Amino acid sequence: MKKFRLGLVGAGRMGLVHLRAAADSALVEIAAVADPSVAAREMLRPFGVAVHADAMAMIGAGGLDGVLIATPSPTHVATIAAVAARGLPILCEKPCGISAVQAKEAAAIAESAGVHLQIGYWRRFVPELKALRERIMAHSLGELYLVSCFQWDETPPPASFRASGGGAFIDMGVHEFDQLRWLTGQELEDYRVAAASTAFAEVVPEDPDAVQLLCTLSKGGNGLVSLGRRFPIGDACWVQAFGTMDFAESRFFWPPAGEAVFFAALRAQLEDFARAVQGQPSAAATAADAVAALVAAEAATAALRQAR
Ligand SMILES: NC(=O)c1ccc[n+]([C@@H]2O[C@H](COP(=O)([O-])OP(=O)(O)OC[C@H]3O[C@@H](n4cnc5c(N)ncnc54)[C@H](O)[C@@H]3O)[C@@H](O)[C@H]2O)c1
Repeated sequence: MKKFRLGLVGAGRMGLVHLRAAADSALVEIAAVADPSVAAREMLRPFGVAVHADAMAMIGAGGLDGVLIATPSPTHVATIAAVAARGLPILCEKPCGISAVQAKEAAAIAESAGVHLQIGYWRRFVPELKALRERIMAHSLGELYLVSCFQWDETPPPASFRASGGGAFIDMGVHEFDQLRWLTGQELEDYRVAAASTAFAEVVPEDPDAVQLLCTLSKGGNGLVSLGRRFPIGDACWVQAFGTMDFAESRFFWPPAGEAVFFAALRAQLEDFARAVQGQPSAAATAADAVAALVAAEAATAALRQAR
């Protein structure tokens, strides 16, 4: 069977991860890549893909069924506009711009061009989390008191990235906000934030080493988002759900197995995109979900500023 041919725009850290994740897919292949950086293009040699200096040259070469955007977040909207003008369906990395206004703009561009747009919130493709969501939706935990979502990284990114990445809630928190909404089927409001006051917290005010957010879920329970930049045992994400009838915990991304889970979810996400373009139902985040995650991240960032 002919594979779905993806063009990848942006071959940095995340683009290379997508290339490795796609390599094991029977359904999807990354057939071409565009990146203006000579150094990034050099890194692509082992993958044996067609390489271009810009997305328009890549699309112009023809033969693509869809485009995966993994450029820096501030370039998402312009890249979506350029690809949508050529009529190709788009899978864009999270967060889809760096503000809710930008994500709304991206949604409007895709809608008026009539192209499919989905956003790369990979947690939606993790089997353990899908099973937890099914339990929550089937009421097997009862009413939810609290759903806690933890994302703790082994080490922080460079200070320059932390200063320009929009802060902890935009860079990291969007995953947890999307996950909370998706797991519970509820909306988030009323954000309260406390940050640990470490030396780094003073250097990068919107990106403290450790920050905790409490919010209210629309059916009355609470959500907790816990973000940390230093976790000695390795990069980790986990969830705890406290209900009136049961408790569930999933250490779905936990060393040393985290990378395998991540890659499998990214591959499933690419395959979902291919199927969605062919008219099948998609489990992915929509542009509206991206807007909601950024609305929450912006409110959380405002609450952090107030708390400091
Ligand atoms: N889903 C996740 O878990 C996850 C993890 C990390 C990053 N991301 C997202 O992936 C995106 C990229 O992040 P990254 O860490 O790979 O960044 P990066 O800086 O490592 O790589 C970005 C690449 O895009 C290239 N680029 C810049 N402008 C371009 C353009 N107009 N056309 C083509 N290429 C262009 C750069 O040369 C670079 O090689 C961001 O939106 C980020 O939020 C998602």
